[in-house]
Amino acid sequence: MLGFLLYLFMKLLFSFWIHPIRAYRKLKKNGFGGPTPSFPLGNIREMKNSMKNNIINNNDSSSLSVASSAVSHDIHSTVFPYFARWQKSHGKVFIYWLGTEPFLYIADPEFLKEMSSGVLGKSWGKPNVFKHDREPMFGNGLVMVEGDDWAMASLMVEPATKMLDRWTTLINSGKPEIDVEREITTTAGEIIARTSFGLSYQNGSKVFEKLRAMQITLFNSNRYVGVPFSKLMCPKKNLEAKKLGKEIDQLLLSIIDARKKSWDYESPQKDLLGLLMEGKQVDGRAGKSLTARELVDECKTFFFGGHETTALALTWTLLLLATHPNWQNQLRDEIKEVIGDGEIDFAKLSGLKKMGWVMNEVLRLYSPAPNAQRQAREDIKVDDLVIPNGTNIWIDVVGMHHDPAIWGDDVFEFRPERFKDDHLYGGCKHKMGFLPFGFGGRMCVGRNLTTMEYKVVLTLMLTRFSFSISPSYSHSPSILLSLRPRHGLPLIVQPL
Ligand code: HEM
Repeated sequence: MLGFLLYLFMKLLFSFWIHPIRAYRKLKKNGFGGPTPSFPLGNIREMKNSMKNNIINNNDSSSLSVASSAVSHDIHSTVFPYFARWQKSHGKVFIYWLGTEPFLYIADPEFLKEMSSGVLGKSWGKPNVFKHDREPMFGNGLVMVEGDDWAMASLMVEPATKMLDRWTTLINSGKPEIDVEREITTTAGEIIARTSFGLSYQNGSKVFEKLRAMQITLFNSNRYVGVPFSKLMCPKKNLEAKKLGKEIDQLLLSIIDARKKSWDYESPQKDLLGLLMEGKQVDGRAGKSLTARELVDECKTFFFGGHETTALALTWTLLLLATHPNWQNQLRDEIKEVIGDGEIDFAKLSGLKKMGWVMNEVLRLYSPAPNAQRQAREDIKVDDLVIPNGTNIWIDVVGMHHDPAIWGDDVFEFRPERFKDDHLYGGCKHKMGFLPFGFGGRMCVGRNLTTMEYKVVLTLMLTRFSFSISPSYSHSPSILLSLRPRHGLPLIVQPL
C-alpha cells in the first residue's frame, strides 16, 4: 500500500511539477519567450482578469445604442484581450501556459509557413479530440457536393423557406425585429441533420439541444483546462457533461443502428453517414474501418463543426449587410442577373461571384472558427528554434485576419472587393494570413458544402427581405468555442 502511494506521489510529482518545469526550461533555452507562468494555474488568472475587465468595459460602452456606423470590426483585443496584450511585449510567437500545459501561440504567418513546410504529417496532429484521419475518405472536401450532385442543395431549400415563412408571419403580426442568429442556427442545424444524416427535424433537434447544452456546460466548467485535477473543481458540471455526452452517444448509436438495419448494398445512401458507414463496410482493412464508437465521434464532429460555423457565417453576413445596404443591393442585383426570379438552379450558384467575395470578407472579419490547433508529436525544428514534442500549438486566426501588417491600413473595413482580383487570399500579403477553414492536411472537409449552403440560404433571404440594424443590437463579439454575437443579432426585417 505504502509502495503504491509512493508510486502515485512520484507520478503526480513528475507529471504536474517536474515535467512542466523541464518543458519550461527547454522552451526558454530553445528561444521562446512569453508571459511568466505560475503554478498551478499557468497564465490562466491573467487571462481571466483580462477577460473580466474587457466585459466590464464592453458593458459600459454597449449601454450606448449602436448606430450602424459605430460597429467596429477591430475585434482582436475584444475577443482575445490577453493575446493582444502579450503580442505587444512578446511578439507574434510566444509560449503561454494553461495550468501545467505549454501552448505555443502563433500569429505570424511566415513562422506558420516555415513550421508547416518542415513538418511531416506524423510530426503533429490535433490535440486529443480529432483522432481519426479523415483525409483518405474526403480528400479535398465532401465528395458528394462536387460534380453535379445537387441533391444536397435541394435539401437545404425547405428548412430555409420554412424559416423565411416564419419571419413573414412575425412581421405580419407587427414584430419586425427578429433575432436572426437564433433563427439561422436552428435552420442550419436542420440542414446538417438532413444533408449529413438523413434525419428528421425531430431527431436532429434532439441531438442539437443536447450538444448545445453540453457546449455550455463544458465551456463553463472547462476554464481550468490544463490545471492539475481541474475536473475535481467543478464535479457537478463535469458529471452533467458526462451524462449529456452519454445521451448523445445513445441517440447517435440508435440512428446508426437504424441505418445499418435498412442498409442497401446496391446503392447506399449518399449522405455523410452513408459515406462513413461505407468506409466501414467496404474497407475492412485494419486501421481504416470505423468502430461504432468512432462512427459516433465522427458524427458528433460533423454535427458540431457543420452547423454552428455555417450559421455564424450567415449571421455575421447579415450584420455586415445590414450596416452596408449598398452591398445588400449589389448582391440582390447579382442574384437577379445570375439566378433570376424563379427557383434556384443550383448549377448557377458558382456564378454568384460577389456573394463569394462577401462570404470571404465576412470569414476574414468574423471568422466563426477563431483559432486552429495542433500538437507536436515529435520535436519540430523551425530555423534554429525547436518546438518540443507534446507542445500544444494555438494559431490565432482572428489575430492574423486583423493584422494591418499583412492586410494594409483598411484591415478593419468591410471591403469584399479585396477578393475580386485575388479570390483566394483577398490581397493578403501572406498566403498563410487567411485561414478561415484551417490549413494543410487538416483543413475543413465541409468547406464546399458550407459555400453551397451559404449561397442557397443567402439567396433565399435576400430575394424576400431587406435587413437593417435594430437599435437594440449591441456589438459584442465573443468566444463560446466559436466567434458569436454575445447578445444575439436582432435585426429589423422588412419584406421586399
Ligand atoms: C463557415 C463554415 C465553416 C468554417 C468556418 C469551418 C472551419 C473549420 C476549421 C477552422 C477547421 C479546423 C481545420 C484545421 O485545424 O486546420 C474545421 C474542421 C472541420 N470541419 Fe469545418 N468549418 C465550416 C463548416 C463545416 C461544415 C459544413 C462541416 C460538415 C459538414 C464541417 C466539418 C468539419 C470537420 C469534420 C472538421 C475536422 C477535419 C479534420 O480534423 O480532419 N465544417 N472546420
